[in-house]
Amino acid sequence: MLEEEYQPRRQLPAHLRKKAEPEAPFTYSIRDATEADLPDVREIYNYYVVNSVVTFDEDQMTLKEWRNKFALIKKLKMPFIVAVSPNGTVLGYGLVAQWKPKAAFRFTVENSIYLRPSATGKGLGRVLLGDLIERTRAAGFKEMLAVVADKGAEGSIKLHESFGFKEIGRMGRVGFKFERWLGTVLLQKSLK
Ligand SMILES: CC(C)(COP(=O)(O)OP(=O)(O)OC[C@H]1O[C@@H](n2cnc3c(N)ncnc32)[C@H](O)[C@@H]1OP(=O)(O)O)[C@@H](O)C(=O)NCCC(=O)NCCS
Repeated sequence: MLEEEYQPRRQLPAHLRKKAEPEAPFTYSIRDATEADLPDVREIYNYYVVNSVVTFDEDQMTLKEWRNKFALIKKLKMPFIVAVSPNGTVLGYGLVAQWKPKAAFRFTVENSIYLRPSATGKGLGRVLLGDLIERTRAAGFKEMLAVVADKGAEGSIKLHESFGFKEIGRMGRVGFKFERWLGTVLLQKSLK
């Protein structure tokens, strides 16, 4: 046998192999966010501020800014929910906020869902968005918008479309982050 033909054994025989640990099931519960969740919410959001273009923020949000945002959302009786693992880790959050502060926009909200990177791709985004839509409808709001970056957020666009959001417009070259121009895709769902 030539040396290059020699194939070293890559795996132990089955009976000697260590049994793989079964992956822990991905379990969580969903509840209203509280002020105590805001440091985790901030950490999750700031990860995407620093590492992605899914948000057009460039400066990390402070806890004070999150407390103010939380207070306004509560005052306006808009939903702000978190998904929490059995050991209490916040895995992600969903909220709706005012689309615009002018009075005539009062029945229209903009949603926002952010998951801890390790919690993505396992169906949690779908559960959070579904729950958020129901709570927003129950609270009496009529129209929901999502403003999504036109690059790097394809997952979010697919997710919204699967809930019946329709693309209603695009803006090109309105954001500039990480030395490149970005646009936004606007999606809308009627909650009636
Ligand atoms: C976008 C986000 C909320 C989606 O949540 P998720 O738990 O990762 O997504 P899910 O596993 O629930 O997938 C739901 C659907 O979204 C779509 N989707 C999710 N990730 C996708 C990807 N990377 N590429 C294409 N489609 C994707 C699919 O349609 C999927 O449906 P399917 O499972 O039937 O194929 C989550 O990935 C996230 O927090 N991303 C970073 C922050 C962000 O972009 N937030 C949205 C700002 S507008």
